[in-house]
Amino acid sequence: MISIILPTYNEVENIRVIVANLLRLLEKENIEGEIIVVDDDSPDGTAAIAMGFIEKYPVSVYVRKSDRGLSKAVIKGFELAKGDVCLVIDADLSHPVEKIPAMIRPILEDKCDMTVGSRYIEGGGWEDFSLVREIVSKMAGFLAKGITTLSDPTSGFMAIRKNIINEMKLDPLGWKIVLEVAVKGKPRIKEIPILFGERKKGRSKLGFKAQIDYIRHLWHLYCYSYPVVFQFIKFCIVGISGLFIDTAVLVALVEYVSFDPRFAAIFAFIAAVTYNYTFNRAWTFEQGKRIKIVSGYISFVLVCIVGLTIRIGVMHLLIKYAEMDKSPLYIIASLLGIISATIFNFLGSRYLVFSKLFFK
Ligand code: GDD
Ligand code: MN
Repeated sequence: MISIILPTYNEVENIRVIVANLLRLLEKENIEGEIIVVDDDSPDGTAAIAMGFIEKYPVSVYVRKSDRGLSKAVIKGFELAKGDVCLVIDADLSHPVEKIPAMIRPILEDKCDMTVGSRYIEGGGWEDFSLVREIVSKMAGFLAKGITTLSDPTSGFMAIRKNIINEMKLDPLGWKIVLEVAVKGKPRIKEIPILFGERKKGRSKLGFKAQIDYIRHLWHLYCYSYPVVFQFIKFCIVGISGLFIDTAVLVALVEYVSFDPRFAAIFAFIAAVTYNYTFNRAWTFEQGKRIKIVSGYISFVLVCIVGLTIRIGVMHLLIKYAEMDKSPLYIIASLLGIISATIFNFLGSRYLVFSKLFFK
């Protein structure tokens, strides 16, 4: 059986037509299927109209009352689905209903686990040309190149084998459930060309905030796909911002409390290390929150002190044996020291401070 998931928000002008189209297609193609409308309590009464189908047809309507969101609605649909294959389609008639057999056939024949409708392969495209929309879509697709081979990663039209979904932990962040599933579930994917039609009725719900959410979602998926690289990037972001804390404390103590700069530097170091520890624990390392605060902190301070020694040590070696003491070479020596210390601090943090060793 096929479960067709239809997420809706304010689709009062489209819901009747799309459900009727889907039912007609199921009958014509002789496909056993159910339609699950997941509505986010649309104020325009979309759900009430969808309810009109439930007595006579294999249609069910689920109304989510809080926490609006396209991905969340689709995930709810997955939970409710009884079929072996789930198909997700927009309710605004943008996605071609007649492509459904082509979307589900390869999965049923076990040629792949997932199909995605694509505008960017041979045979696909846009029904009505909109330059802005196409540029935004192309750019969004480009940004996802590092995590997926999909030609149209922002597509919302997909079909997937149900057991793949069951095994996954889906993050309902953002709008791009297709990308989420494709990246995390690692299914075998086949792309199906589609002509994407602009909605004729109602308004798109994806505004500026959706674009921001998309970037946040991408960031999460990149972190998921390249955990060590992105952990290191986060670690460096924290480190660089920690440098500002360090300098701010230093300046404050020297200017306002008249400390000797060398003495003030000790407090600046402590402030920066504390700041770095707090943010690395909360943000850089996913397991950070499971770390005992105090023992983790002490070990982090120790790692940083060793790191500082490495920094000075590398600098010392370069000056002594590579004669890098003349301007501007000593700056390069210092930078190489900082790079070595950063790598050491990162490895020490990853494999010691934020490891199982200090779990609560
Ligand atoms: N339940 C629920 N909750 N459904 C929602 C919500 C929500 O918060 N927001 C939107 N939807 C439903 C709409 O009712 C529609 O059926 C579908 O999700 C797509 O929303 P549109 O408002 O039509 O978005 P779009 O046309 O800008 O975006 C479409 O095109 C993109 C590619 O250009 C969607 O298909 C995206 O998934 C797709 O990536
Ligand atoms: Mn749309």
